[in-house]
Amino acid sequence: MSTRKRCILSREAIAQRVTELADRISQDYAGRDLVMIGVLKGAFIFLADLVRALKFPVEVDFVRLKSYGSGTQSSGEIVITKDVETPLKDREVLIVEDIVDLGLTLDFLRKHLLTHHPRSLKICCFIDKGERRQVEVPLDYVGFVVEKGFLVGYGLDCGEQNRTLPEIYALENAGPET
Ligand code: IMP
Ligand code: MG
Repeated sequence: MSTRKRCILSREAIAQRVTELADRISQDYAGRDLVMIGVLKGAFIFLADLVRALKFPVEVDFVRLKSYGSGTQSSGEIVITKDVETPLKDREVLIVEDIVDLGLTLDFLRKHLLTHHPRSLKICCFIDKGERRQVEVPLDYVGFVVEKGFLVGYGLDCGEQNRTLPEIYALENAGPET
């Protein structure tokens, strides 16, 4: 089977939505001291676009979590391979994630960051993939809702492929290769 890619979100649609999210976040956190925590690797492009569209400077940190093997299947087990380095106690913290699928990754990260006793902890997720949710996680800002499919581009990868594409694509099995 070969795999084809179908573009589902254009650069323009992404840019417009990122601006809308940044405007809302700017309004909600105006005058407050915000730390944004990007989840590596997938969220690095979304986070970079989002922070540059905000109306004030924020502090940025990263965590790296691993839940997927090399392909499209979650291993179900989540490990932190890079933890936050910024003190979060009594600070306003916003997690920035690429995509939520089963919900296991964000649920794990949320509980982990809560042990640092932030003043507030919210989640901004670029894509909410609703179909397979196993654990409910509160999503405060959502870029797009996509029912199903495995998506690549704009930071999202499949086995490290297609991460740097500027649009979002759904992978489709195109049938036997000829
Ligand atoms: P969850 O624990 O199933 O919610 O896993 C979410 C994580 O799996 C995301 O941070 C992504 O790294 C990865 N993931 C889930 N769905 C996709 C997808 O469609 N494309 C690329 N990565 C995905
Ligand atoms: Mg991720």
